[in-house]
Amino acid sequence: MALVTTAEMFKKAYDGGYAIGAFNVNNMEIVQGITEAAREVNAPLILQVSKGARAYANHTYLMKLVEAAVIECPDIPIALHLDHGDSFETCKSCIDGGFTSVMIDASSKPFEENIEITKRVVEYAHAHGVVVEAELGSLAGVEDEVNVSAEDSSYTRPEEVEEFVARTGCDSLAIAIGTSHGAYKFKPEQCTRNEKGILVPPPLRFDILEEVSKRLPRFPIVLHGSSSVPQDFVKMINENGGSMPDAVGVPEEQLRQAAKLAVCKINIDSDLRLAMTGTIRQFFNEAPSKFDPREYLKPARANIKEMVKHKLIHVLGCDGKA
Ligand code: G3H
Ligand code: 13P
Ligand code: ZN
Repeated sequence: MALVTTAEMFKKAYDGGYAIGAFNVNNMEIVQGITEAAREVNAPLILQVSKGARAYANHTYLMKLVEAAVIECPDIPIALHLDHGDSFETCKSCIDGGFTSVMIDASSKPFEENIEITKRVVEYAHAHGVVVEAELGSLAGVEDEVNVSAEDSSYTRPEEVEEFVARTGCDSLAIAIGTSHGAYKFKPEQCTRNEKGILVPPPLRFDILEEVSKRLPRFPIVLHGSSSVPQDFVKMINENGGSMPDAVGVPEEQLRQAAKLAVCKINIDSDLRLAMTGTIRQFFNEAPSKFDPREYLKPARANIKEMVKHKLIHVLGCDGKA
């Protein structure tokens, strides 16, 4: 199967009450860990590439890694998506370069300007058979060079979504309902603590999601900043020389709930980073004389695979839907 767009995936996900996992890729082991998991559980998949990933690994290398994954996983649909495209030019370069989906993130711009930029990308993308994700509202956290403070983040305003989608023609919409990028999604003072002293974050704004989906019937909604920050990996990092106090993510049950509603795409990057870093830190700590990268990248890839499998089955609910 060649790379596909997300159109068909989202239709089925909407009707089936599940979501597609959109995982960020930066190198071969991450691509392999994610795609082996999806192949084993027969799940449709979105591999996404940020501007930072393209700067790190180079467009051609990433493209070829994804093409290799498509060959190795002939039975599952895979879409290749630009994550947080910051300009028409970045989107155009990915569309021309073989991506099947792009995000134009003009959410930090005023409403009219967001519409104008998004519309321009949609026109170019649709003329080339590529679909477009846009964003309304802004998430807190760090993405590429942009660091949005909690004070500057804002929930999506449901009263704006119909006009935005009608005027831009975008194919899916990322909304802000309380998720945020990175491994520190909530400040300790926003949370309570459970009996083990682990932070329990405030619930997502399901009221906003429901209002948005009432106004946009059958329209695919996207959640960014949806890593759960597994505490096993945080512990592994902290016990092996790292320091990530009070790292906290979005609880899995809330993501599962969102996936049953209008959310068709759930973005996960930080959890991949935690799995890889925790595994490698532990390896270095336990085997200080080893120096063959294959020896530590292999277990890192295996832990990414296990974690992604868990998400596909128990959080996204997209196993068996390829
Ligand atoms: O939304 C942000 C993603 O985690 C991508 O992060 O820009 O550091 O590659 P990055
Ligand atoms: P996380 O930082 O929660 O993994 O979010 C990733 C993301 O939204 C990529 O666009
Ligand atoms: Zn994001």
